[in-house]
Amino acid sequence: MSGKLDGRKILITGAASGMGREIARLFAEEGAALALLDRNAGGLAEVAAALGAAGYGCDVADRDQVNRILVEAADRLGGIDGLVNAAGILDITHFDDLDPNSWDRMLAVNLTGPFNVAKAALPFLRRAEKATIVNIASVSALMPMAGTAGYSASKAGLAMFTKAIAFDLGPTIRANTICPGVIKTEMTRYLWENPEHSQRATDRVALKRLGEPGDVARAALFFSTEDSGFTTGTELPVDGGFSWR
Ligand SMILES: NC(=O)c1ccc[n+]([C@@H]2O[C@H](COP(=O)([O-])OP(=O)(O)OC[C@H]3O[C@@H](n4cnc5c(N)ncnc54)[C@H](O)[C@@H]3O)[C@@H](O)[C@H]2O)c1
Repeated sequence: MSGKLDGRKILITGAASGMGREIARLFAEEGAALALLDRNAGGLAEVAAALGAAGYGCDVADRDQVNRILVEAADRLGGIDGLVNAAGILDITHFDDLDPNSWDRMLAVNLTGPFNVAKAALPFLRRAEKATIVNIASVSALMPMAGTAGYSASKAGLAMFTKAIAFDLGPTIRANTICPGVIKTEMTRYLWENPEHSQRATDRVALKRLGEPGDVARAALFFSTEDSGFTTGTELPVDGGFSWR
């Protein structure tokens, strides 16, 4: 532990599982005071208790709920000067069969969710001398893949949303996007638990392994500290060399 986040007050969504949970663990280790959000209130309670963090059951797509909880969380932490939007959902379905309700939900959670959280946090981020926003998109924001019309659209939208607000919010607030490749979490269990699929995904990347949540957590830490102090509005692939264009 090096205390890179000592004195910081950071809100993380999707913290009950996968990358959000690992980001919360690393950020707590680095000294941040944390508010954690997830729609899985039970899973989140365990994570929050283990880290001594505040945990809030919350659907990021529900704007009223987000607005209410952000005020509560800021009250509890004494402000908010960092956000990590990791909550997300994935439905890989050929466009022929993609249910319009699934399209709506992916946009609501993956794109409007980070909008809701950033908008509700803005008055608090504005009060900080320096603040950071990290949005977790995907390599699907950078390149098309079969069956990802809704997911890719939501994540490409998130990456461009982040660029656009980076303009509006500088110089005191920086906003950056991480684009993970295949990372071993609940979301991709169907893939990495199948040896054939796992091998195919591994063979496709330069570094010949699948990603771990810690790979993304370290990138989120970079974007949340002055180590990235002259970087805003950018996308960082964390994908082992998958999305080169
Ligand atoms: N795993 C991968 O390979 C991969 C690759 C690229 C991008 N991503 C993105 O990374 C982020 C983290 O995913 P993960 O792999 O850790 O998945 P995960 O399923 O392990 O964790 C996602 C978390 O988000 C929460 N969540 C989902 N919808 C929510 C909502 N409406 N409100 C609040 N919380 C909600 C879930 O309850 C869960 O705890 C997601 O945005 C995902 O799209 C994942």
